[in-house]
Formats: sequence, C-alpha cells, structure tokens
Amino acid sequence: ASHTRTQSNASVPHATKKTMVDHLRKYESLFTLTPQRMRIIVDSFVEVLEIGLKEFGQTVPMIPTYVFGWPTRMENGDFLALDLGGTNLRVCLVHLQGDGRFEITQTKYRLTEEQKQEDGMKLFDFCAECVANFVELHTGEGRGKIKEDEELALGFTFSYPVNQARIDHGELIRWTKGFGAPNTEGKDVAAMFRASMEKYPVLKNVKLTALINDTTGTLIASHYVNPRTKIAVILGTGCNAAYMETVENITKIAPLGIPGEQQMAINCEWGAFDSFQHYHLPRTPYDILVDEQSNKPGEQAFEKLISGRYLGEIFRLVLCELIDAGDLFLGQNTYKLEIPYSFDTAFLSLMESDPTDELLTVIGIFTHFHQIETTLAERQFFRALARLIGRRAARLSACGIAAIVSKCGYLEEGCSVGADGSLYNKYPGFADRIHEGLVDVFGDKGKRIVTHHAEDGSGVGSAIIAAMTKKRKADGLF
Ligand code: GLC
Repeated sequence: ASHTRTQSNASVPHATKKTMVDHLRKYESLFTLTPQRMRIIVDSFVEVLEIGLKEFGQTVPMIPTYVFGWPTRMENGDFLALDLGGTNLRVCLVHLQGDGRFEITQTKYRLTEEQKQEDGMKLFDFCAECVANFVELHTGEGRGKIKEDEELALGFTFSYPVNQARIDHGELIRWTKGFGAPNTEGKDVAAMFRASMEKYPVLKNVKLTALINDTTGTLIASHYVNPRTKIAVILGTGCNAAYMETVENITKIAPLGIPGEQQMAINCEWGAFDSFQHYHLPRTPYDILVDEQSNKPGEQAFEKLISGRYLGEIFRLVLCELIDAGDLFLGQNTYKLEIPYSFDTAFLSLMESDPTDELLTVIGIFTHFHQIETTLAERQFFRALARLIGRRAARLSACGIAAIVSKCGYLEEGCSVGADGSLYNKYPGFADRIHEGLVDVFGDKGKRIVTHHAEDGSGVGSAIIAAMTKKRKADGLF
C-alpha cells in the first residue's frame, strides 16, 4: 500500500480525503445560518424597512415609485419597454390586449464590461441607439407593428437605486452590480436618456412615460397574472424586493396631496441592508475580501452575500486560500483560478446539479481552468462548498422576504411572492431552500408564503406600468 501511495504522490500530489473533510467542517460553521440567527436578522431587517419609510437618506432607501396600486388587467395598447439590467440590455414591444393577455416582441443586446464603466452619456446613447434600431426594424409597411406618427409610450426599467420625485424622473443614488459609469450618480437618468433619444429622429414619437425598477415591474406583472402576489423579489446579478404600501405609512412623503389610503409600490433596495456599519450580517473573511476588492467597498452588503454576481467569487476566494496554504492543487498551474471573478456563479449551479458519482461535471469545470486535475474527494468538497454558499444565499433571501411579510402582516393570510432572476430560475433547489428558510423563521406558518416564477417584469411589467401611468394622467389624477 505504501508503494502505491508514493507513486500517486509523485505525479500530482493531492490533499487526502481527511483534510478536505476537515476543511469542510470549518466552512460549514462559517457559512451556516441557524434558524435563531435568521430570526435575529429578520427583526433588525423589519426595523430598517420601517425607518426607510420615515426618513430620506437611509441606507435601505425604501423608494416610493409612484406606481399606484394594482393593475386592473384592462390596460391595453402598444408599449415599448427598455430594460437595462445587470448583464443585458433588452428592447421590447408589448401589446396588451385589455383582457389580461399580451404579446411581446423583443431583442437582446449583451453589455460589455467596458460599457458599464464608460461615461454615463455614452451608455444612454447606446441604449437610445438600440431602441432606435428596434423601432426602425418594426415600423413601416409590412414590417411591423409600430405605427408612424403615433405617440408610443416607453417604460424604462432601470434597475439601480434612484430617488424619484415623480414616475418619469429618477436621480441615481449609486450604481450597483459592478456598474461605475462616471457622470451619472446624482443625476436624473430619465433626463439623460431623453437627451440621448433626441439624437435619433426615428424616436420623435417615443415618450419616456415611466422609469421603473425591475422589482416594481415584477410586482405588477406577477400580480397581473397571479392576484395573490403581494411581494416581488429579484435574485439574479443583483438582489432586491418590492411590495405595495399604503401611502399614509410612507410618512417621509406624506404631505404630497396623494390620498392617504392610496397604495403605492415601494422599491426597497434591500441589497443595501447592513451596508457601511455591518452590524447585522455574519460575514466570513471571504465576504469581507469580496467587499474590499469591489468597486464599491462597504456598499450593498446584503446583495454581496446573495446575488449571482458574487457567489462564484466567494467560492473562488475560498479555493485561493487553500491553494495559498498548499492544501490544494500543489504543483499544478492555478493562475487562471487566481483571476478575480473568473469563477462564474453558473459553475456553482452546475456542480450542485452534477448527477454522476464521479462528479464528471466538476472534472470538466476544473479542466477548463487550465487543466487542473482533481480527486474525487476534492470534487466532493467543491460541491459541498457550493452547497454551503448557495444555501446561505437562499436563507438570507428568506430573511428579507420574512421581514417584508412581518412588517406588512401577511403571515396569517399567506401570500405569493413573484420571483425572477438567474439564481431563482437556474440555481438548483434555490426556491426550496428559500421555503425551508421561511419555515425556520416562522415555523409551520412559513409554509403559507410561497414563491413562484414571476412574469417578465422588465418587459411586460414595464408596459403595464406605462399603460397605468398614461391612464392616470389622462384621468387627471395625481
Ligand atoms: C441591484 C439594484 C436594484 C435591482 C437589483 C436586481 O440591487 O440596486 O435596483 O433591483 O439589483 O436587479
């Protein structure tokens, strides 16, 4: 036996199974959230949500969106929707039939990392260019559905925190999700986009009617197809939630002349929970590194533990620690793994869903990183580590949902939570883990809170909101 061991060590030395198991024990204690800890987080989260409704300038800004109440499903007409999310840019033409049904035609464009960092005006010029190309493509005899010489309302889904004084206005509070375009923070992005649209004559009839957040769009679109929906969450590149609030509870905007009993959607921007002070969330050394090395240290503390932009990076940093300690991949070329953000969150989902005993998918992933060889024990460790990181993200999401449920008193009646985003849609078991987390917080009653895949908020939701806004204006309402 000793002979065999020497032989295998001579080629590529691997950590023995025991050390991987030892390591795992340490990470388990770092990444596991007990039900008790979750309840403490929920309690402080509720307080933070409440303060955000009372005072401007709070870390979790609880943004009034000027989206008033639920849709009637009678909204109708053609609307453009522009969606600037974290990864893609999308232009949609949405036809609302007026009976709850709709048709959607769309084009997607990939955003480059450079575009996220170049001057804000250039970014909005690019958005306008994409809308112009789209409109051109769909206008004219036999070509399309867009009628010349008719005003076309556009809903702009801009999924970053903005302070709104009305629905077609929004000052960017701060970029999130790795965006850093200069000359944009503190400015009215709706005005910037309007100025960009003016550069394209084909857009002369297009009117920016509503600037919305993806969560708000998701809230409205989900309710449109499932009226039990009371909350919307996005779990994707970023993470955030929206819900419907009674205007008289939003005391920071109270004297606006809007009837107190009116409902208005609130974009929580909960990704900012626990930013700067870091009192409430249990952060590991890897979370702290992710934060410090990000373009916005201190900010989006909650989001950095949960969203797709960061989970792969957390995993990578754990691996780098083991590599540095000489406990992993000794003698192998690991430079590719040492590149920040080289380990995509999609790899975590792939590892977790590997159906083979040998973990062949995991072999494939590491081979991709410059032919790194792995033992089965190591692969089992990687998968277990992915599970810890993914599970923590889902349980923290459950804490956020639980906080809104508690604050609004939805537990007794129960409610539906419309959810969207790559993590929710693609990460195996994410929804189940959220549901388990809700039971850990609320006990059996937690089963009354059920998430479901949401209707496309940034396309359909944005169009419905544009329609609601147009109608409200036509009716001469606030
Ligand atoms: C980030 C943005 C927020 C958005 C979320 C999901 O948290 O700040 O506005 O809703 O990502 O896309």
